[in-house]
Amino acid sequence: MLHTDDVDGIAPTDHGPWWQSPSLRAGAGGLTLDGVDLVALARAQGTPLFASSAPTIRRQLGLLDAALRAAGVEPRIQYAMKANRSPGVLATVRGVPGVGVDTCSPAEVELALHSGFSPERVSFNAGMLSDGDLDRVAAAGVPCILDSFSSLRRYGARVPAGTPVGLRFDPQVQVGYRARQHLAYGGAKFGFEPQALPDALAAARATGLEVQGLHVHLGWGLGQDAAPAVDEAYARLAGLARQVPGLRWVNVGGGLGARFCERDRPLSLERWSQAVRTHLAPLGLPVACEPGTVVAAPAGVLLVTVNTVERRRGLTWVGVDAGHPLNPCPALYGIPITVVAAERPLAPTEGDFAVVGHVNEAGDVWDARAALPLPREGEVLALLPAGAYTTSMASRHCLRGDFREVLVG
Ligand SMILES: Cc1ncc(COP(=O)(O)O)c(C=O)c1O
Repeated sequence: MLHTDDVDGIAPTDHGPWWQSPSLRAGAGGLTLDGVDLVALARAQGTPLFASSAPTIRRQLGLLDAALRAAGVEPRIQYAMKANRSPGVLATVRGVPGVGVDTCSPAEVELALHSGFSPERVSFNAGMLSDGDLDRVAAAGVPCILDSFSSLRRYGARVPAGTPVGLRFDPQVQVGYRARQHLAYGGAKFGFEPQALPDALAAARATGLEVQGLHVHLGWGLGQDAAPAVDEAYARLAGLARQVPGLRWVNVGGGLGARFCERDRPLSLERWSQAVRTHLAPLGLPVACEPGTVVAAPAGVLLVTVNTVERRRGLTWVGVDAGHPLNPCPALYGIPITVVAAERPLAPTEGDFAVVGHVNEAGDVWDARAALPLPREGEVLALLPAGAYTTSMASRHCLRGDFREVLVG
């Protein structure tokens, strides 16, 4: 069942902090994830600790499946493992019938196969590929989506005649989280231009490839305001699909978002489903998607320990034992995160605090104005959501990138 107020794909269950979900709960005794006491977990395992909720991953995949079925299309969900490739997350996704995994590098392909996904359940979608990349992907035997004449020519030379392939197109719309330019994929380095369709089909045919699908990916963190652009891009995709005889699927990529702070309003699954129903269902083809964020982000929490509470230059600075090496998204893309006092999530706020990490970068700031009860040294805080593009993008900057991970549920 989809709800109109289902802004991040998780229906609210009752009143309380906006970030609560059926899995992540605020109680008088502290924060719990699927019934697991997160502070006790943090103390037992040590921080920084990523806790991921398997039920949330399954629930989000179920909501996506329902949204596509409500649109009247056969769903083909390929979880984008670039969002989170932790062993527990991949095992959880592998356990969901009918769901595959989307990869964007030869190493991701190999990890997916090693994690137990059969080649038919793995898709590969990437650009600017070297001959070595194409050798590895061809050897793995996974279906590919390609976006250049160069890769069609060189891939076709490596695989048997009749090998299926998908073609990726520029969506020609510019949308992404809060209009951040780096998060809008239209008009960027990806994909054929729509008018190149006849030439791309001819190039594929010339090299023995069989074009079975067409793909677009609009951007990261699509908000409610992206709805008209989604309609425009899906209508264009449908127009292209009608020009390709024998097409077997269309693919709308990823981009469905999560709430990173209270004011975020991601494109709802209901609105997304409506766009699929209006523009793509009439094609009568299965509709594939490559969701990363909407599946993984709400499943993860990063638990950290406060080591410093000190007033300087008119602010109370709260230092924690994790910095942007564990989640570059705030520094790289300006994506907010929400800080929660994990031991007392229902305690009244006592001010705005600058919660910062421990690497030597002035920009290593989690939240310059986190509304919290006065933090105490030694206290556990939760940074959320932390399930997408955190561990998978972790760096070794300042050799501060160490973390632990636990899957719950
Ligand atoms: C081609 C493609 N598909 C899927 C995704 C996953 O996107 P998201 O995490 O926004 O769902 C990305 C992310 O960059 C992508 O580039």
